[in-house]
Formats: sequence, C-alpha cells, structure tokens
Amino acid sequence: NVGEFVRVEVDPDNPAVAVIRIDRPKALNALNGRVTEEIAEAAARVSSDDSVRAVVLYGGERAFVAGADIKEMAELTHAKMLEYSRALQNALTAVARIPKPVVAAISGYALGGGCELALCADFRVVGAKARLGQPEILLGVIPGAGGTQRLPRLIGPAKAKDLVFTGRHVKAEEALEIGLADRVVEDDEVYSAAVELVARYADGPAVALAAAKEAIDRGLETDLDTGLEIERLQFSGLFATEDQKAGMRGFIEQGPGKATFE
Ligand code: HXC
Repeated sequence: NVGEFVRVEVDPDNPAVAVIRIDRPKALNALNGRVTEEIAEAAARVSSDDSVRAVVLYGGERAFVAGADIKEMAELTHAKMLEYSRALQNALTAVARIPKPVVAAISGYALGGGCELALCADFRVVGAKARLGQPEILLGVIPGAGGTQRLPRLIGPAKAKDLVFTGRHVKAEEALEIGLADRVVEDDEVYSAAVELVARYADGPAVALAAAKEAIDRGLETDLDTGLEIERLQFSGLFATEDQKAGMRGFIEQGPGKATFE
C-alpha cells in the first residue's frame, strides 16, 4: 500500500498486472496534494518492480478522477500555485514515463486533472456512461497538468481547442470517435476490459517494450531526425539483451512467434 488515498494492488487473475487504485470517493477522487504525492510514489513503485509487466490506473466505478481539488486550490497565491502545479505535472509525468504498458480504466468522471492523468496512460478504456473533459475554463483557468500539451498531441489541436475552450463533457462514444478513448465497454466491464487489454503485453520482452514506449513517446516530443536517432540507439541497445538473442534464435530454429522471453 502506498498511502491514504492510493494503493498499488496486483490483479488477482494476472499477477504481472499491477493496479494503481485511486480511492478518495468522498471527493470523486479529486487530486489534492496528498493524492498527487501518492500517485508519484505509486508510479515509482510499479516502474522499479520487475514483477510488474503492465499497469492499470483505476478509480473505481463512480469516478476515475474529477480533477484537481478545487477546494484546496481556490485560495492559493500565484507563488503557491507555481509549486502546486509543478508537483502535479511531475506526478503525472512520472505516470507517463512508467516503462511498461499502462491503461486507464475510466468509469464515471475523468475531468480536468483526471482527464490529464488518463492522457498519461498508453490506452484508455472507457465505460459507456463515463464523462471526460477539460472543464477548467469554466473555473476561469486552463488545464494545468498537461492538458494543453498531451491532449492536442493525442487528438489534434482543433479538437483539443474545442474541448478546452468550451469545457464541455465528452461522452464515451464521442471520446472513441475523436481518439480520446480506445475502447468503450459497459461500465461494469471497464476494469476487466482494461486488464485484458494490457495483460496481452505482459508476456512480451519487457526491455523491448520499454524501448518501444520510450522511442515513441520521446520521439513525439522532438523532430523526426532526433526521433530516428532515439529509435536507432534504442534498437541497437536491445542487442545487449537476452530477449533479442532468444527472439532471433527462436525464429531461426523454430519459426516466427515461437520465442519465449524472460
Ligand atoms: C474538489 C470535488 C471535485 C474537485 C467533485 N468534488 N469534484 N472536490 N475538487 N475537482 C466533490 C464535490 O464538491 C462533492 O463534495 C463530492 O465531490 C461529490 O461531487 P458532486 O458535485 O456532489 O457530484 P455530482 O453532482 O455527481 O457532480 C459530479 C461532477 C462535479 C460533475 C464531477 O462534481 C464537478 O463538476 N466537479 C468538478 C470538475 C472540475 O471542474 N474539474 C476540474 C478541476 S480543475 P461534497 O463535500 O459537497 O459532498 C483541474 C486543474 C488541474 O483539474 C491543473 C492543476 C494544476
């Protein structure tokens, strides 16, 4: 257990799948300073634990996360908010950098900082009645935990601007249509569908999966030439792994897809 509001659990049917469970139901899992710290700690734990091969972010049935804690933020000064927003951005970036496949299992509300947390996963499985969005504009502010950056990278600038300018809630079907959701399922199947989605990567070569994730994510943050260089270095680096030897020897000796990895 990480702390008061965030737990790291192991999925009972898939011991290689860890669940970062956010549990502050009285405030619909709103991210206060404590929750933010605990999310950063949970991200560090699942990142460094070799028995974890894939990760699910889950907030329970009623809400994924309804945003940063408005009651905690309301009276902060400019100087305090500079610190507060840095802590939140750092925690969410720690999630985005987990070197393993990560899926957000979204049931209920994923708003503001909650939507921004979901953007830090590799995939989003969304319940039919879920609502996603960046309602900060309705509070007189803007997304501050990565939403102005990660949302347009995922769904494109015009769609991101529509969501950020209006603050409207997006339903599951629209989320799927605009690429904010990857799968829509019945609300009571969100968790199991999310586990199923990432469990299929859990037997893959862990170092190569981490390299693929890093090359794609870092590459998207830079120009093509630099991205190709990141790819070339990551690719070449994998020739120092047992998995590369097992993978290529397995092909030569037994045929495609027969290799087993550590
Ligand atoms: C603090 C929150 C909260 C939040 C909900 N609650 N969201 N508290 N911060 N973001 C609390 C409510 O005050 C209430 O507490 C309890 O959770 C249940 O919420 P209700 O509003 O009664 O539920 P419901 O009527 O079902 O409405 C759900 C909702 C609404 C649509 C999700 O709560 C809502 O609009 N929440 C705010 C969403 C939002 O604006 N998020 C963006 C935050 S800004 P009590 O004690 O009254 O029972 C942000 C910026 C990030 O995220 C960047 C920072 C650096």
